[in-house]
Amino acid sequence: MSEVSVRAMAMALAAMLSPLAANAGVGDPMRGQSLFVAKGCVQCHAVRGAGGRVGPDLGRTAVKGSFFEIAAAMWNHSTAMDEKMREFRVARPSFEKEELSDLLAFLYFLNYFDEPGEPRVGKVLFAQKHCIQCHSLGREGGTAGPRLDALPRGTAPLRIAQDLWNHGPVMVPAIRRMGLDVPKFEGSEIIDLFAYLRSHGQRRTAREFRSSGDPAQGKRLFATKGCARCHGVFGKGPGIGPDLGKTELRGSVTQLAGRMWNHWSAMSEAMGALGMAPPKFQRDELADVFAYLFVSRYDGGSGGAKRGDDVYRLKGCAACHGSGGEGNVGPSLRKTTVGETKEVIFQRMWNHAPKMRDKMGLHQIPWPRFEADELAALLALLAGGWSDRPAPVHAARGSR
Ligand code: HEC
Ligand code: HEC
Ligand code: HEC
Ligand code: HEC
Repeated sequence: MSEVSVRAMAMALAAMLSPLAANAGVGDPMRGQSLFVAKGCVQCHAVRGAGGRVGPDLGRTAVKGSFFEIAAAMWNHSTAMDEKMREFRVARPSFEKEELSDLLAFLYFLNYFDEPGEPRVGKVLFAQKHCIQCHSLGREGGTAGPRLDALPRGTAPLRIAQDLWNHGPVMVPAIRRMGLDVPKFEGSEIIDLFAYLRSHGQRRTAREFRSSGDPAQGKRLFATKGCARCHGVFGKGPGIGPDLGKTELRGSVTQLAGRMWNHWSAMSEAMGALGMAPPKFQRDELADVFAYLFVSRYDGGSGGAKRGDDVYRLKGCAACHGSGGEGNVGPSLRKTTVGETKEVIFQRMWNHAPKMRDKMGLHQIPWPRFEADELAALLALLAGGWSDRPAPVHAARGSR
């Protein structure tokens, strides 16, 4: 049944990503994939088409931005999920040790690689985006640019993105000379277009290209290739280009690379102003850079603890756990959350949610819902603790 195909689909993917995730210090997507089946999620949720249909497909929903986004979605939907679990007689899962961290890593990394593209759509795009006027594939196409069917069949999409980028300085002026706009890619266009190119390559085996990338190497490259001269990643950037942690970047690493390409004109102009040439990438370098960006975004914009104080009070936590976390109707949080990771704290919240909800019902406190940044701020407070700040109840008045 569907569990089998989820295993098949996710296994190869998770196995490739586990070392990457380990380097990044996040949970283990491979173990998370097993938990997705073992904890019964698969009975209601599909990932990219394989699995249950009761809840949304978690490989396709908008939930893909950061740990906080996925956790907040799970939390906000938990009342509706609990109802469905009762209806379908599935036990509400609770988690121990690293389990929830692994599961969320699995859901996060699901989007690392592309969905399989649609070569037929890609063929249409190849004409629509005018590639065909300069490039030939088989018998059709122009000759101003190199043939694109010389690529090894099945070449990694990121590798094609790297070639495209590297040839930008020659290709873009050629495109402009023909009076055309520099092509841009929306949504999954880049995936479909590359699927078309990949399906037409030579039979020669593809040269090894590690699409899973090495985030540590990518971080170094981000500096040495000059990206850091214009971009920050979560704060303290020079501000010439957008902060690549905070900007709305979604999708697989290939889609992220496509987003970089879309900004070619403005970026190469800005580079010119700094007297630098657009960087070129060799070997697996582009994969490394985007592995770094993708992994960095897992931590989202971890919110400040001051904001966390506000969230803690406004969502009603203070009413039961005390304004300084000392405990009241609910237990003291000082010993259980302070110094823990965000994953472990969220796991504790999740495990205790049913009893909290009962108590909330009694006290007529509405079930708290979180935006991703609110959850980030709250978890930062719970991890950092209350001790070295004045009691928030008094500090709130008149400050700011
Ligand atoms: C009995 C069915 C059922 C089970 C089991 C279940 N879910 Fe859900 N889940 C749902 C439903 C239904 C929704 C949509 C709820 C809503 O609309 O508020 C949902 C929503 C979600 C969402 C939010 C999705 C979005 O796009 O916002 C996440 C994340 C999620 N579930 C994760 C999980 C995980 C992880 C597990 C396993 C630990 C799990 N679910 C088990 C039924 C289930
Ligand atoms: C106006 C002509 C023109 C158009 C339109 C054009 N290209 Fe190119 N393209 C070139 C030229 C010229 C080169 C070679 C640049 C160089 O020598 O550095 C090139 C190089 C490339 C390469 C690198 C090939 C290699 O052998 O490494 C790729 C990949 C590529 N183009 C893809 C595309 C795609 C996809 C499109 C459509 C979205 C497109 N091109 C549209 C002219 C064009
Ligand atoms: C000289 C400055 C400069 C350098 C160097 C630079 N960028 Fe950019 N980048 C920009 C600017 C400016 C924009 C926004 C362009 C626009 O508004 O169209 C941008 C946009 C982007 C985007 C799209 C962001 C979005 O929100 O869609 C990505 C991704 C990106 N750059 C990645 C990189 C990477 C990776 C490197 C290093 C290889 C790099 N940039 C080097 C200036 C730069
Ligand atoms: C209506 C009272 C009430 C509210 C409001 C409430 N909690 Fe709780 N909370 C409880 C109770 C009772 C428990 C213990 C449940 C149990 O033993 O399973 C608990 C348990 C916890 C735990 C687990 C502690 C441990 O020992 O592992 C955490 C973490 C937690 N709450 C955080 C929060 C946060 C964050 C908020 C605000 C969003 C909140 N709670 C709001 C009553 C509440």
